[in-house]
Amino acid sequence: MLKQPRDSAREELEHLKVRIERHLVALVGSAHPNEPVLRTAVRESVLSSGKRLRPMMVDLAARDLGFVSDVSLHAGCAIELIHTASLLLDDLPCMDDALTRRGQPTIHIRYGEDVAILASIALLSDAFALPSRLPDLTGDQKSDLAGVLAQAVGMNGLVSGQFSDLRTAGRPGESIQDLNDRKTGALFVAAMRMAGILANASPSSQQALGVFGVELGRAFQLFDDLLDVAGDPERMGKNNGMDHGKTIAAQQSTSEALMAQVHSHLSNAVAALERVPGGAPRLLAFTNFLFGDPDDLRSNPSTSGALLPGLLA
Ligand code: IPE
Ligand code: IPE
Ligand code: MG
Repeated sequence: MLKQPRDSAREELEHLKVRIERHLVALVGSAHPNEPVLRTAVRESVLSSGKRLRPMMVDLAARDLGFVSDVSLHAGCAIELIHTASLLLDDLPCMDDALTRRGQPTIHIRYGEDVAILASIALLSDAFALPSRLPDLTGDQKSDLAGVLAQAVGMNGLVSGQFSDLRTAGRPGESIQDLNDRKTGALFVAAMRMAGILANASPSSQQALGVFGVELGRAFQLFDDLLDVAGDPERMGKNNGMDHGKTIAAQQSTSEALMAQVHSHLSNAVAALERVPGGAPRLLAFTNFLFGDPDDLRSNPSTSGALLPGLLA
């Protein structure tokens, strides 16, 4: 029987996920007796069952731009370290106060808030240093990669988005979309910028991929907001109803209106890919796989399977 495109996308992404996780093990080490609890927390937080979407995006985009090397996968792992660091902080009692993450008790519940904070700082710092060790790149490429990572975290990136989510979300004049762009979109855009740097992409390709990153990030965060209200915590492996800004986002709209927004951002994302020479087929297949059949998604967002853990088991 002929393989459906969705099956073959699943196979390719599962394979990519395995390769990413192999490299993450190389970065954070394997367990050994009597190691300090901080090292255990770093390793377990990184190696728990994430979907690895951001490093996938770096690798797929770089290949779509003609850069064929494992360096893109290795560079992408820096974003996964940053993403993990952001989740450690996001789950703390002073932030979303979450008890579970990726199907397990959160790191601060297991090892203490002090350890969770220090593990997060360690991961961020190691992520910024990672580009300097990548082979086969120019000095400018390495420093540009580190700059992109640092900017994605800083005062125009996810730190500022988290602050708005916690302190100002829902206030008059505060745009949830702008907040989501900083909180979540920043790492999606950084993934695209990293691919552009690796592949020495033209300004117009970089611009189109930037739009793709923004629009995919918007669709992704709105879908996560919907799941926060309507999803099954067991399947998602994390608590729902925990989030300040996102709950407000979901409360401000009906789920139908939110789904319509998800679809509109997805079609903007796909339209942006058409402006990349060659049409970025890997990123397109990734997007279609992630959000699944638009009709399934529309009729039953909480069980459509899209974006849930286990999707890329
Ligand atoms: C969760 O991101 C945090 C958001 C920005 C909504 P993911 O859904 O990518 O989390 P993991 O890495 O798969 O756990
Ligand atoms: C995730 O935000 C944290 C960051 C993007 C820094 P959310 O609070 O919306 O995500 P979950 O639901 O905890 O994964
Ligand atoms: Mg949260």
